[in-house]
Amino acid sequence: MKCKIIYLSLTGNTKRATEKVKEGINKSGHECELLEMRDFTNASEFNGFDLFGFMAPVHAFGVPTIFTRFLKTIPRINEKYAFIGATGATNFGSFFSNINKILIEKRFTSIAKLSVYAPQTYTPLNSPGNEKYIYKEPELQKAYNFGINIFNEYNEIVLKKSKNPPKFTQIIGTSLFSMIANNDTSLRMLLGTIKINKETCTKCKICLDNCAWNAIEIVSKTSFPKRIKNKCGGCCACINLCPEGALWTSSTKGKERYYEPSYKGYTKRS
Ligand SMILES: Cc1cc2nc3c(=O)[nH]c(=O)nc-3n(C[C@H](O)[C@H](O)[C@H](O)COP(=O)(O)O)c2cc1C
Ligand code: SF4
Ligand code: SF4
Repeated sequence: MKCKIIYLSLTGNTKRATEKVKEGINKSGHECELLEMRDFTNASEFNGFDLFGFMAPVHAFGVPTIFTRFLKTIPRINEKYAFIGATGATNFGSFFSNINKILIEKRFTSIAKLSVYAPQTYTPLNSPGNEKYIYKEPELQKAYNFGINIFNEYNEIVLKKSKNPPKFTQIIGTSLFSMIANNDTSLRMLLGTIKINKETCTKCKICLDNCAWNAIEIVSKTSFPKRIKNKCGGCCACINLCPEGALWTSSTKGKERYYEPSYKGYTKRS
């Protein structure tokens, strides 16, 4: 059988978890394709698969707006089956229930969920030298085991109809917060004004290539990058991924950025 996982990853955590799920699926004798949300082209991406995975990081107890927006634009197609995966640092809030609501509108039936605890990439919350910023091996193993088992779940639920699909409840107390906080404006206000150190910036454009909100432009006169404020989602990816540490805000100053040496996933986009 064949699975396709469509994922969003701003600093590589979800990408790694997704790759582990794929490894597990392959180990169980099934096929799996990965597709970064930003590489999605059209509805034909949904042809020829038995199962879909939707995976993203948790942002402000919910789904990153850019991923919600993407899910809302996918076409309504015939009955399809899906699992929902998230990587988060502490609290997954209404992530699963919010994605599930959109998937129901799109005629997907969600058959399983995966939550992977990953290092914190919201830089204002980080503090220097904390070992929690290392991705824990058991969490990646959890993603792998999920991949190994997912087609057994599929067989039980879809083919034998012997199990009820899981319910996706929100954690009480975070749902209200998600309603007011899980949007671009709130997150960029929390982050503050992004400043650039022109002495260390090498004009490499890694920040621009990795901004999922397309909120970075190059100033033609100087060739330095500049944030387009009203487009920014406050995700910190540019701050975390800049190899020179040239980007900062008053809330990230002195905080450890999340740069995972084993993550070489800089994505060059045209
Ligand atoms: C803007 C922002 C908000 C976040 N909010 C939450 C949160 O509410 N709950 C949580 O568990 N993790 C939160 N995190 C942590 C990320 O979900 C976690 O680091 C995730 O693994 C990042 O995945 P990525 O590298 O694929 O983007 C937040 C991270 C960012 C950047
Ligand atoms: S990633 Fe850093 S060094 Fe590269 S262009 Fe952006 S700010 Fe400059
Ligand atoms: S400009 Fe804003 S949205 Fe883009 S990577 Fe930086 S913080 Fe994220």
